[in-house]
Amino acid sequence: MELFIKNLKIENVEAEIFAVFMTEEKAKVFKPKTEIDNLIFSSFKDFRGEFDKMSLIFLNSKIKRVLLVGLGKEKELTLERLRIASCSAVKSAASNKIRELVFSVPATRLHSKDVAASLAEGAVLGDYVFDKYKTNHDEKQTRIEKITFLHENTKLKDIVQRAKIICEGANNARELVNEAPNVAHTVYLENVAMEIAKRNDLRITVLDENELKNRGLNLILAVSRGSFCPPRLVIIEYEGDKKSKQKIALVGKGVIFDTGGINLKPSGHIEDMKCDMAGSATVFFTIETAARLRLKKNIIAVAPLVENSIGPNSYRPGEIITAYNGKSVEISDTDAEGRLILADALSYTEKNYSPSLILDFATLTGSIMRTFGEFVAGIFGDQKTAKKIFEAGEKTYERVWHLPIYEEYKNEMKGEISDLKNLGYKEGAYAGAITGAAFLSSFVEKTPWLHFDIAGTAFYEKQRGYTPKGGTGWGIRLLIEFLK
Ligand code: BES
Ligand code: ZN
Ligand code: ZN
Repeated sequence: MELFIKNLKIENVEAEIFAVFMTEEKAKVFKPKTEIDNLIFSSFKDFRGEFDKMSLIFLNSKIKRVLLVGLGKEKELTLERLRIASCSAVKSAASNKIRELVFSVPATRLHSKDVAASLAEGAVLGDYVFDKYKTNHDEKQTRIEKITFLHENTKLKDIVQRAKIICEGANNARELVNEAPNVAHTVYLENVAMEIAKRNDLRITVLDENELKNRGLNLILAVSRGSFCPPRLVIIEYEGDKKSKQKIALVGKGVIFDTGGINLKPSGHIEDMKCDMAGSATVFFTIETAARLRLKKNIIAVAPLVENSIGPNSYRPGEIITAYNGKSVEISDTDAEGRLILADALSYTEKNYSPSLILDFATLTGSIMRTFGEFVAGIFGDQKTAKKIFEAGEKTYERVWHLPIYEEYKNEMKGEISDLKNLGYKEGAYAGAITGAAFLSSFVEKTPWLHFDIAGTAFYEKQRGYTPKGGTGWGIRLLIEFLK
């Protein structure tokens, strides 16, 4: 999709669809000034500017159709409402098989930069569908090729361009998460990471099975044992600020499919488990987006890639494995595999890359979904970072809530015959998301660290506004906002 800003009078606009975004207040006092205004006004009867209500008007002029899009009451207008309204305009054009739109940028109490960015976000995110496996062309959604934003400040071009790059990052993450698990296996994800590194000129290191063995990343190896897919640990490095010693590590869970292992998941819980690599998609496309935007930050993206499968060599409940950091871990449940691969990835990252901050992203627990549904991600760990992330999330509408890792929760994860076990507190039934985070906390020694449980937010069971069913691309806009 190409986005442009043009400073044009309405008389000079040519468009297949001209989307006019209007608050209820504006709709009430709308006075026609031009011939086109007159035509619009004559079809106004059922349009009052209510939020997300639309009215499509056919004109016999250079503007072929006007789409009136309601923004609701001015005082209730938010950036999120603008994203949703923009997405609705795009979806309406697509369902009419139209590929080009012109957008009015409404004057509201919000800053025009934010308004333009939000409209761009809603359009790019709302245009995404996963239809590559539809062989019948008629079943594929029409994609929007071009949107021209009308505004007197053509400097907004840079703003919408950046919004577009960020949302393309989210769409790429969606595409990778939606990809079928027979295609998106560990080596496929490794190749995606290699391509990201290549096209953005970033350093990449991949540890294969032998190197994982030599370095003692035994938890990653244990989880991977039941699968034909070879395990990997991928590390991409982006150096955007050579003068600074600060470095942020983003660590993402990359389980290409989670059967549960010998503690097999039952029907009803296993079907969507291709989503279990969403954390890795988040970190891969965040680092690519940061590189494309040339953010002045040093970032590394780390992803352990495995399949949690069943085979004659699968790891079993009762096994005791020595982690990379030397701690012994008893496997109480092979389905609590995410924390195991992350544990090794976290301590490996801290020891070998000395980051100043570690953020990890994982579809870690069903427990977080029972708490927040699909609307909010749980965050755990460093208070100061949590506060900043919260603020960034309020802006991008990727909302988070901080939960505590009290000493008592950590004690629940202590083993009887080992240092730690991977399941605690009433066999995982109590405080599951917190005890998962408590387990991880034993693998970060001194670096400020924040864990994101994205099991609910990473994958939707149905479409909502500009977020499609399936992979959501959650976290990329939030992280870029935080990094900025
Ligand atoms: N990948 C799952 C968590 C998950 C559940 C992600 C639903 C997305 C949607 C994770 O590996 C898992 O199986 N967690 C268990 C942990 C339990 C055994 C302690 C869970 O939450 O049930
Ligand atoms: Zn699991
Ligand atoms: Zn899992």
